[in-house]
Amino acid sequence: MKNMSITLRPMSANTGMEVLGIDLREPMGEQAYLEMRHALCDTGIICFHGQQLSPAHHLAFAKRFGAVPPAEFLKTPDGFPEIGIVAKQPGETRNIGGNWHSDHSFDSQAPLGAVLYARELPKSGGDTLFANMGAAFDSLSDGMKETLRGLEAVHAKAQSWHADTRPDRAVSPAELARHDEEFKDRQCVHPVVTRHPETGREILFVNPTYTSHFVGWAYAESRALLDYLFAHATSPENSCRFHWEEGSMVFWDNRSALHYALNDYHGQRRVMHRATIYAPG
Ligand code: SIN
Repeated sequence: MKNMSITLRPMSANTGMEVLGIDLREPMGEQAYLEMRHALCDTGIICFHGQQLSPAHHLAFAKRFGAVPPAEFLKTPDGFPEIGIVAKQPGETRNIGGNWHSDHSFDSQAPLGAVLYARELPKSGGDTLFANMGAAFDSLSDGMKETLRGLEAVHAKAQSWHADTRPDRAVSPAELARHDEEFKDRQCVHPVVTRHPETGREILFVNPTYTSHFVGWAYAESRALLDYLFAHATSPENSCRFHWEEGSMVFWDNRSALHYALNDYHGQRRVMHRATIYAPG
């Protein structure tokens, strides 16, 4: 039966909306689609529980919201090059996404969002945190807002290996140099305050994984203000925690939300499927 109408339930004061009363295997009516898109843009994420989705259902849902190109940097399931496998095996210590970030902010056209579906979960742990960067900007002082509106920041993929960003990664200077060289073209400059393309809301667009410094500022000067902004943005008031269950799916708005995959389930397997969505060119 076609999904005609849905019910929305806030996940926290400022971040996230749970969508109830929908079976994502069924075709989606226009009204349900518009309500979900609105909730996504307003609160940064929408989530679902109790779904039973094949990769084809997952992909069809994602494609309703934009273009889904082949996954980059990740393995993919047979027949579905657009679906990236986000996995951590029992013997691994590092996970994917284990620090606050927005996906691909080092590219000039970062994704609209991503839809992550749980395939295999640890018995405990492996939650994902989300922060609403519109709410984060709104709750700054007028003076800070005005300062930030005049700034641009550099976002670089290689920054994610730098010690100030990820002390836990502890790569050697040689490995760091290799990443800097390999990804020297994966960096760009974004305004620190962007406007959400669908709501017009101002968004604090920096993140602890890829943002290295403000244009025209020294790294040390930048770090002091960036660290303040990161702590503010990811405070409990601006964020929420999503607990995965079998059949859970989350769609985050990558233009206005940060996310953080907790890495607290060593010795267990966690396998997720991710479809990354781009706004039509
Ligand atoms: C990611 O950053 O895409 C991974 C999120 C997660 O596994 O919860």
